[in-house]
Amino acid sequence: MPLRRTKIVATLGPATNSRDRIAALIDAGMNVARLNFSHGNPDEHRERARLVREVARDKGVHVALLGDLQGPKIRIARFSDGSVQLDAGERFRLSVSHPLDQGDQDIVGIDYPELVNDCRAGDELLLDDGRVVLRVDSVGRDEVRCTVTSGGILSNNKGINRRGGGLSAAALTDKDRFDITLAAELQMEYVAVSFPRNADDMRLARKLLKDSESQAWLIAKIERAEAVADEQALDGLISASDGVMVARGDLGVEIGDAELVGIQKLIITRARQQNKVVITATQMMESMINSPMPTRAEVSDVANAALDYTDAVMLSAETAAGNYPIEAVKSMDRVCLGAEKHPTSQHSGHRLKQQFSRCDETVALAAMYAGNHFPGVTAIITLTESGYTPLIMSRIRSHLPIFALSPHAETLGRVALFRGVTGIRFNPVEITSSDVNQAAVNALLQAGHVKAGDWVILTKGDVYNSRGGTNSMKLLQVGERLV
Ligand code: G6P
Repeated sequence: MPLRRTKIVATLGPATNSRDRIAALIDAGMNVARLNFSHGNPDEHRERARLVREVARDKGVHVALLGDLQGPKIRIARFSDGSVQLDAGERFRLSVSHPLDQGDQDIVGIDYPELVNDCRAGDELLLDDGRVVLRVDSVGRDEVRCTVTSGGILSNNKGINRRGGGLSAAALTDKDRFDITLAAELQMEYVAVSFPRNADDMRLARKLLKDSESQAWLIAKIERAEAVADEQALDGLISASDGVMVARGDLGVEIGDAELVGIQKLIITRARQQNKVVITATQMMESMINSPMPTRAEVSDVANAALDYTDAVMLSAETAAGNYPIEAVKSMDRVCLGAEKHPTSQHSGHRLKQQFSRCDETVALAAMYAGNHFPGVTAIITLTESGYTPLIMSRIRSHLPIFALSPHAETLGRVALFRGVTGIRFNPVEITSSDVNQAAVNALLQAGHVKAGDWVILTKGDVYNSRGGTNSMKLLQVGERLV
């Protein structure tokens, strides 16, 4: 069975709370466990994180933890009766002064005073991910008066977006700041920032993480129309982050679903060109919340994201609250493996016309180029401190598995998100330096990843356990006595 290259991020929640369920998710193929800070309390997150770490350790696999900050999602307040039915043509008002728990058929409160400044007559407001649509007729001192253009049931605390974007509270709320300290406490490998507007939001998140002494890598969720308004805005956000998430829920609402597919491809391409990881998320196997098998359209969506060369595909409610969480991961696993057989997954034109800027980057890409073109090579081995070298390697399309050898648990967890990369614990400092190549190849041989006669390519630096120093690659034949 080939190693799956596209990674699976699965969100934990009530449907996957027990040790057995988490073990089953890992067996089914979960590479990254997502803790969604929009739901649950700190102790629930602590318990889930503990279970993931314990089960992964028992199984001898590396599973990363990703903490997803709630962010400043703008929501309506509550209704006296929990919900109302709005019909097209009716009038409805959003008020910044109405009591927050007394919404009714005509009016509902909203805890976002800027609404009256951000809206203009003619704007389109989308509630509950676009299930209810309002057109703004006029804006008063403390309310926005609308007509319902697409009706439906509207219930408590549903999100609100403006078509084209522009409703923007500052990213990183007080709750987010607390959750960053929680992510640091749980030694999470990744933290995702919701609704970042620009690079400055990401820089602030990075500073907060640093203040909490967290080494987590930062993922920018691309979910505002502003973030994809032009390539400069997108590139700015990407370059300030370690990775991005195509957060298709809010993004689709703001830019319209028809634009979404092209934008998804653009985000994935731009992220990879900038040496960043990329996760494709939202509703990938949505019907599996209630059904044991995906629809053909969902299969196609997951397969297409894998063909676009995303690092990972993500499950949200499917695994957090669905009835078939394990089946959802198994389906993704199967579909990704199928897509990866397609030749477009294996041939690369990555950065052919660009210069490289670093020595280790040059060696990493040269190793992949050699592996892709020299028949007989069955694996790439890279000694890494931080995960940087395998990250660069995994930006380029290849059929070859990349084995990241590192002594650090955090690095081994981190590389679990990189496409095509498998972490193996290995500490060159514990080995006589003339035996390191042999020991590295033996580690793969013992795990059954290579066999005698195969060629492997190994990269490392002159000094062990120091980041950024990779300066050599060696072609080695398994079974030979290596030096
Ligand atoms: C390990 C190896 C070094 C190599 C380094 C690269 O520490 O022992 O020889 O230079 O990895 O680490 P990096 O974090 O840059 O991928």
